[in-house]
Amino acid sequence: LMRTKIPEGLQKLPGPKPLPIIGNVLEVGNNPHLSLTAMSKFYGPVFQIQIGMRPVVVLSGNDVIRQALLKQGEEFAGRPDLHSSKFISDGKSLAFSTDQVGVWRARRKLALSALRTFSTVQAKSSEYSCALEEHISKEGLYLIERLHSVMKADGSFDPFRHIVVSVANVICGICFGQRYSHDDDELVSLVNLSDEFGKIVGSGNPADFIPFLRILPSTMMKKFVAINARFSKLMKKMVNDHYDTFNKDNIRDITDSLINHCEDRKLDENSNVQVSDEKIVGIVNDLFGAGFDTISTALSWGVVYLVAYPEIQERLQRELREKIGMDRTPRLSDRTDLPLLEAFILEIFRHSSFLPFTIPHCTSKDTSLNGYFIPKDTCVFVNQWQINHDPELWKDPSSFNLDRFLTADGTELNKIEGEKVLVFGLGKRRCIGESIGRAEVFLFMAILLQRLKFSGMPGEMLDMTPEYGLTMKHKRCMLRVTPQPGFELPGT
Ligand code: HEM
Repeated sequence: LMRTKIPEGLQKLPGPKPLPIIGNVLEVGNNPHLSLTAMSKFYGPVFQIQIGMRPVVVLSGNDVIRQALLKQGEEFAGRPDLHSSKFISDGKSLAFSTDQVGVWRARRKLALSALRTFSTVQAKSSEYSCALEEHISKEGLYLIERLHSVMKADGSFDPFRHIVVSVANVICGICFGQRYSHDDDELVSLVNLSDEFGKIVGSGNPADFIPFLRILPSTMMKKFVAINARFSKLMKKMVNDHYDTFNKDNIRDITDSLINHCEDRKLDENSNVQVSDEKIVGIVNDLFGAGFDTISTALSWGVVYLVAYPEIQERLQRELREKIGMDRTPRLSDRTDLPLLEAFILEIFRHSSFLPFTIPHCTSKDTSLNGYFIPKDTCVFVNQWQINHDPELWKDPSSFNLDRFLTADGTELNKIEGEKVLVFGLGKRRCIGESIGRAEVFLFMAILLQRLKFSGMPGEMLDMTPEYGLTMKHKRCMLRVTPQPGFELPGT
């Protein structure tokens, strides 16, 4: 970059001076969301660091991030060529790979339409408004039974361990038309490894940028490669089963619809972008992977915040009692009647910012931002955590306060405040699972809160420090539940 000539009228990016070979790795440290937020106060909303020998532009602040991802969306929509991406879905991931723009766009469109079709499709039972609602309600109720039985046997439970299985079953139902038992070792152990995955693909992992680190023996990296291989094996098995039983007159789920698309496309000689069958059917890996880790992380944080703020838990339960009552299970259509719960979820997203950076972006051509020159193929980090904790946007950003998302009289959601929270990215690469994600977090939370009261272990302090990664998780902990009055299970 030093040798790149900066076009007239533009300036060189500011930023800390890099050390030879390692660049700014030491200043970035183990919590890049915090160190890069601190640097943005000093260098401004657009600055450059170097990880190893490779320059990385870091974006912060509402104006700059909106300018880059919305107004200059095309120029900032690429993905960088990172070492870890080669192992995700055999290097063919829709979200992480460096697919050329035409191929990525075609795959994204297909993924969006498959997700929309199979989440809004009619439910099997007429008591639900759509298949998504049916899957979530059933898994929510199974989860409650599960927690009761673990409580009876052990007296406490690890929330993430059980939530992740329920959430994985929802997306498994949509993608593969199948669910797993909470005792299925293969699925339970695999989905419980997602924290190891997130640690490697979080923005700023030095091994992504510094070639010599890759030849050092790294247990983390070995685990990462092994997890991806196990994951691919499970996905391939599901896909092969679908090919074996495929019937184009009975499209059962997303995998069938992707296989069907491959068949149709062979008849369409005019299609101008060539995407292999493997890359089309492989979309299901992205949907499954993105669909369980993000939502289970959000819900697990939700439960931990309920325990940390018992007075908020009580307020939420009062709202549920008053607006829904105890005679029926909450539904997706209750969202507008439960502004407190909606505000709580927004505050979980903002305060935890559990997706601190988007997936790294990359410039698709020479460009500029705020008067600074940014060459083609530069890796770009988008700091969502910074936006969600920016004192310019939020009063007292470090305190957990759901009232910030309610209107002054406390009876309605303040939508404008809600839109300031950034967790799904923006623009061309914006999350395609956003509406499913929001719906699922809402309905699981509502069902759990209606029937259970969560508490911590007596005398133990909850450690709420997030562990850095693509999705930041709270430390594993043990919690307890008691049934809400009227919801005692037989035998408890
Ligand atoms: C991308 C957040 C749920 C599928 C992303 C990105 C973020 C994000 C921050 C990266 C945006 C960027 O790079 O600029 C979340 C959160 C979720 C969630 C917070 C839940 C609370 C889901 C679900 C699915 C999904 C349920 C699918 C079933 C995807 C895919 C991409 C993506 C495929 C890659 C898009 C692309 O590269 O074009 N998500 N997500 N996400 N998400 Fe989500």
